[in-house]
Amino acid sequence: MNEQQWRRRSTKVVWHPYTDIAAFEKTAFPVVRRASESTLYEWNGRPLLDGISSWWCVNLGHSHPRLVRAIRRQAGLLQHTMLGGVTHPAAVELAERLTRLAPKGLRHVMFGSDGSMAVEAALKMALQYWTNRGETERARFIALKDGYHGDSLGAVGVGYVPAFHRPFRAAARPAWRAESPHCNRCPRKQRPDTCGAACFASMEELVRERHRRCAAVIVEPLCQAAAGMRIYPAEYLRRLRALCDRYGLLLIADEIAVGFGRAGTWFACDQADIRPDIMTVGKGLTAGMLPMSATLATDAVYDTFRSRDGRARVFCHGATFCGNPIAGAAALAALDTYKKEKVLEGLPARMRLMKERMAGVAAALDDSPLGALGMIAAVEIKDSAGGGARALRIARLAREAGLLVRPLGRVIYLWPPLTVSLPDLWRMTEILRNAALDSSKNERLVCFKRARSI
Ligand SMILES: Cc1ncc(COP(=O)(O)O)c(C=O)c1O
Repeated sequence: MNEQQWRRRSTKVVWHPYTDIAAFEKTAFPVVRRASESTLYEWNGRPLLDGISSWWCVNLGHSHPRLVRAIRRQAGLLQHTMLGGVTHPAAVELAERLTRLAPKGLRHVMFGSDGSMAVEAALKMALQYWTNRGETERARFIALKDGYHGDSLGAVGVGYVPAFHRPFRAAARPAWRAESPHCNRCPRKQRPDTCGAACFASMEELVRERHRRCAAVIVEPLCQAAAGMRIYPAEYLRRLRALCDRYGLLLIADEIAVGFGRAGTWFACDQADIRPDIMTVGKGLTAGMLPMSATLATDAVYDTFRSRDGRARVFCHGATFCGNPIAGAAALAALDTYKKEKVLEGLPARMRLMKERMAGVAAALDDSPLGALGMIAAVEIKDSAGGGARALRIARLAREAGLLVRPLGRVIYLWPPLTVSLPDLWRMTEILRNAALDSSKNERLVCFKRARSI
């Protein structure tokens, strides 16, 4: 079996997500056989640096021996049991560990199997919290424009991204939208370190006008990732917490992308020193080893779900595989690894190098703006008309040179494993910079050829 045969078989039967089928069938996409640390190995053995941690989750690198061992051990003991009416040690230990790690006061954990499922749980918890209290009018959500919270229909309602979700719009219940804190393209031309989150006025107005019919505000804290890595200041979150408190609204922090060190701290909310009422985590929870997510809630939320006065208040939500023991063992091993290998302590050196080197990529792209938060660095190509095509060209050139990246529109970004070695990080940024430079040469060549052919 050669690579081309695998590709042919794949495009025949595998429905690849977020993939333009017609274009994809014509490309020599990677066929990955194995992976180790920050590198994927293609079928023919060719190394391909994983610049996006395989969709933002492989925080501790591929094939981490501690995690692999934990999965093997658990697989020999107990592979699955439901959590409805039953418990098992991995679920208990993991829930205890998560509540100790999360912002103080998030004391109850509902497990899910992926991020969207955790968001659905969060939204439904918020809705039922109010009905449990007899306030049935509170059935809407407030969210940020261009936020993203997953692809299930409830998540699409609060995280509608036109490019992703247009065909489902009619079936989703849209949240009320506050202005996105888009610091790289601030319409007020202010700087995030001095603006005092002026764009917060739009959120304030929405909450003031609509809070009586609203169950919760949901945000991606500090970074609207899928919108193109829009990084915004902690001050926005502090003000949002205070605003929700003033109007008695629940605050949901969706930490699925940025939790577990990605933002430079355990959770992005830690940087604002706030505690949401409900928090979702996924991706880095098992360091991308197995599908698992969790929704954490405070006592104040949880306690409304106790049946009383003859009225049942059961939370009728749960999926077959929520809290799966093997995924739980992987998550416990991941939490051990974050701690034992002092992963967060090792971030500053990597963050410095990545920011410095990505500034070189931004310079190569006509001084396009660079945004950086923890182990996320993104350059939004200035050219609004041709930026998307150029970003795709850069990704193609990078792949040819041994780096896997996937631009978001005209945003080209790096999201490497948190444990990436400094030489691998240097190489990733070098490949990106060269690709950025070559992409303009290519463009000129194409223009020249086109001009000659006219
Ligand atoms: C902030 C955020 N929430 C939710 C999700 C959905 O997670 P999943 O893809 O695991 O369903 C994502 C995925 O990228 C995300 O970035």
